[in-house]
Formats: sequence, C-alpha cells, structure tokens
Amino acid sequence: MTDPHALSQLIEQYQKRVEDKLEHWLPPAPTLPTELHQAMRYSVLNGGKRVRAILVYMVGEALDIPLEALDGPACAVEIIHAYSLIHDDLPAMDDDDLRRGKPTCHRQFDEATAILAGDALHSLAFYILAHDPAIQSSDHKRLKMVECLAHAIGSRGMAGGQAIDLASEGKALTLAELENMHIHKTGALIRASVELAVLSDNCPVSLQKALDKYAKCIGLAFQIRDDILDVEADTDTLGKPQGADIARNKSTYPSLLGMNEAKRWARELHEDAVQAIDIIDKKADPLRWLSSYIIERSN
Ligand code: IPE
Ligand code: IPE
Ligand code: MG
Ligand code: MG
Ligand code: MG
Repeated sequence: MTDPHALSQLIEQYQKRVEDKLEHWLPPAPTLPTELHQAMRYSVLNGGKRVRAILVYMVGEALDIPLEALDGPACAVEIIHAYSLIHDDLPAMDDDDLRRGKPTCHRQFDEATAILAGDALHSLAFYILAHDPAIQSSDHKRLKMVECLAHAIGSRGMAGGQAIDLASEGKALTLAELENMHIHKTGALIRASVELAVLSDNCPVSLQKALDKYAKCIGLAFQIRDDILDVEADTDTLGKPQGADIARNKSTYPSLLGMNEAKRWARELHEDAVQAIDIIDKKADPLRWLSSYIIERSN
C-alpha cells in the first residue's frame, strides 16, 4: 500500500464512491423549489478533494468496517463541509467570489438562496445519519453519531471557530488563540469524520484514542496548510482567490510565525499523527499517507 499508484487509485475509488452516494442523497434539480435544490447540488457536486469522506473510508478500512456502513457518514461530513463553505464565502463572512474554480453559491444564485442552501444541507446531513439503512450501528450508536456531528459543528465547534475567525480580523492573535481558532473552525469536523467512522463499528478504546489523537493532529495541520497555500499557491490551482487571508487581515500561521516555522509546525503535526497510530498495522498505511498528503497538497 506504500505504492503511490495504488494509493492514488484508492483515492479515486473513494472519491467516485462518495460522488455517487452524494448524488443519491441530493434531491434532483427539478424538485421544487428548484432554485434551492439547484444551489444545493451546485455547491456539493462541484468538485472538492473529498478529504473528509476519504478519511471516513480510510479509518473504516483500518478497522475492517464494510464500506456500505461508511457511506452515510462520508456523505454527512462532505455535505456539512459544503454548507460551511457556502456560508464562509458569503459577503458577511469572507466575501469571496470563487470556490472550487467556479462562482461562489451566492454569486451563481443570490445571497438568500445561498443562505438557505446552507441551511438545507445542514439538515440533510443529519437526516442521512438518522435515516440511512446501510448504517449498521445500534440505535444507541446512531444517536452517538448525531451527537458527535452536532457537537463538532456547533458553537463549541466549527461555528464557534468561524465566529472567532471573524472577530479576529485585523487583530494579532497569540499562537494559543490561533491554534484554538483553527482547532474549532476546521479541526472539529475532521475530528468528527474519524469519530463517525469509529462509531460505525465496535472499536477497542485504545484504538479510539489513537485515532482521535491522529485526527486532532491532521485537523490542525489541514488548516495550517490552507493558510500556507493562501500565500504560496495561485488562484487557478486553488480554485479560490489567492491572498484572501492577507486581504482581509486574518491571523494565520504564516502571518504569525513566518512561512518556514508554519511549515515546520505542519510537519511536526504530521509526525505526531503518524506516531499516534503506530499501534495499527499496515491497514492504517492509507491514513499515514493521507496525513503526509495534507501537509504537502497543492490545493
Ligand atoms: C477548504 O477545505 C476549507 C477549509 C476548511 C480549510 P478543503 O480544502 O477541503 O476544500 P475542498 O472541499 O477540497 O474544496
Ligand atoms: C474555512 O476556513 C473554515 C470553514 C469553512 C469552516 P477558510 O476561510 O480559511 O477557508 P477557505 O480558505 O475560504 O477555503
Ligand atoms: Mg473563513
Ligand atoms: Mg474563507
Ligand atoms: Mg483559507
């Protein structure tokens, strides 16, 4: 599995799988109200690396969980992610015009439709977790999944992190404050992606703890890399406007620590992530690879 070709095939296989399942859960475009459903489909089915879904599948693979049981959680986290991006791009938030190489949802449609598409995707994710017959967990575990996702994206998770982000514009955060913001706005959903996979089966506590440590490390590393790319990548590669953080005076790892130190920080988190799962055999190799991909990716 260390063979890079096998890994890229695996990634493609998971991406394709989640695309199909997302298509299944999203109401068809002609469904009334059509504008709303078109906006939801536009924002979910418009590419994206699908890292959170891939993470769900890879954790499942490390734990021998059948893929069918993971499709619901994989879709739920990607749908929440899509909702978070729609709202993140709104004029009242980051006010961006480009996402995944296309006009942002509020630019393609209008602001009210974008807000509602986000709202509707938010609830669709929970519907999937509550309803998907392929989730094989007990009712108790299914409830735990709902609880996990709700906690991860609420005021003490992603939404809280986004509030901190907006309140911090133009201010110099301390490193501890910056880490806290990143852990919440981006880390929490990535951590939940791992936890939802873990909840899809019976997993010993030692493994749960190892995977949670892994998730925390890659969740923070993911946003550090995002901050680095905002400086170093170009708009075409990113599919979103380069330099958006600088333009909006955001506190980021490169702005606070400098580029070299930001990269060193990301590498250290990758090493910690890999070390956290050293109790799992080669079935966790895709997770090891994913961690290195996260700190090296180009978009
Ligand atoms: C971008 O996430 C927003 C962050 C949380 C940093 P991704 O880089 O995963 O975006 P897509 O899904 O691939 O477009
Ligand atoms: C986004 O962070 C975090 C969430 C959407 C929750 P950013 O604002 O840095 O993401 P991009 O750079 O616009 O994708
Ligand atoms: Mg933002
Ligand atoms: Mg943004
Ligand atoms: Mg960013």
